[in-house]
Amino acid sequence: MAQRVEIALEAAVARAEFGAAPPLLSAAVRHALFSGGARVRPQLALAIAGACGDDQPALADAAAAAIEMLHCASLAHDDLPCFDNAATRRGRPSVHALYGAPLAVLAGDALIVMAFEVLGRAGAAAPARLPPLLATVARGVGMPSGIVAGQAWESEPVAPVEAYHSAKTGALFVAATMSGAIAAGADPAPWRRLGEKLGSAYQVADDLADAVLTEADLGKPAGQDAALGRPSVVTELGLQGAYQRLKSLVGEAVDSIPACDGAQVLRDLVQLQATRLAPKSLTRSAA
Ligand code: IPE
Ligand code: IPE
Ligand code: MG
Ligand code: MG
Repeated sequence: MAQRVEIALEAAVARAEFGAAPPLLSAAVRHALFSGGARVRPQLALAIAGACGDDQPALADAAAAAIEMLHCASLAHDDLPCFDNAATRRGRPSVHALYGAPLAVLAGDALIVMAFEVLGRAGAAAPARLPPLLATVARGVGMPSGIVAGQAWESEPVAPVEAYHSAKTGALFVAATMSGAIAAGADPAPWRRLGEKLGSAYQVADDLADAVLTEADLGKPAGQDAALGRPSVVTELGLQGAYQRLKSLVGEAVDSIPACDGAQVLRDLVQLQATRLAPKSLTRSAA
């Protein structure tokens, strides 16, 4: 699964570079995309496509690649001085720290455009699936309630933490689960809840990690939520409260998995990710 994601991403970038792409833009795009991301969202999309039969694997690959491109674009933009002003990401310099803000903006833009191009191309194999796939992926990243909206909540005088988190993080997880189903020709509706619960769990885990880990552990600046005054589940519930919330969200995610051939494999995958996500110091103090 991991290999399918890398192959699809590499093919898309190679196509975009064909001919005469500006070399620094190409380098910035590659840095944004290939610098050690966990690839959680595309693997989730592929796992669900698999659970739904995966009868058009090239379309599932395209959905997975598009979602990861959009995620990486959002991180390149998120790290910019006008957002979180973060110099590190995934244990390396952030895109603008290496290539400057103009190329970080453009690399993100290029990845956003590339994501939809990848879907458009792959959709030719199953044209009836393309419109819902495009709409689902677009909803995960745009306005009113995708990543763009999530980031925009930071510019509002008051941001409800639930709306902020579900737009900033949850929406792309919903896009991942639902697009995996659509790519395999299945009804996406039963998969929405899994995306919502996993997205919330992931964001709680990120808030916890931001509060208790160091930059060396995280590979990106720590303590950012407090420093930047961002709404955070840790501020709202405290460390132990947030940890309990994480555990219950993971349980709800597991319970939401619809009956299907791959249900047990998916349950195991979710549990495994949950163990990986909870900061070790909290798992120890709760035990
Ligand atoms: C980071 O996402 C941003 C959040 C929404 C929490 P990931 O933790 O999936 O980042 P990478 O892709 O593995 O670096
Ligand atoms: C980033 O959110 C998620 C995006 C949608 C861009 P954060 O700013 O909270 O995440 P990190 O800590 O930089 O990964
Ligand atoms: Mg941010
Ligand atoms: Mg950030």
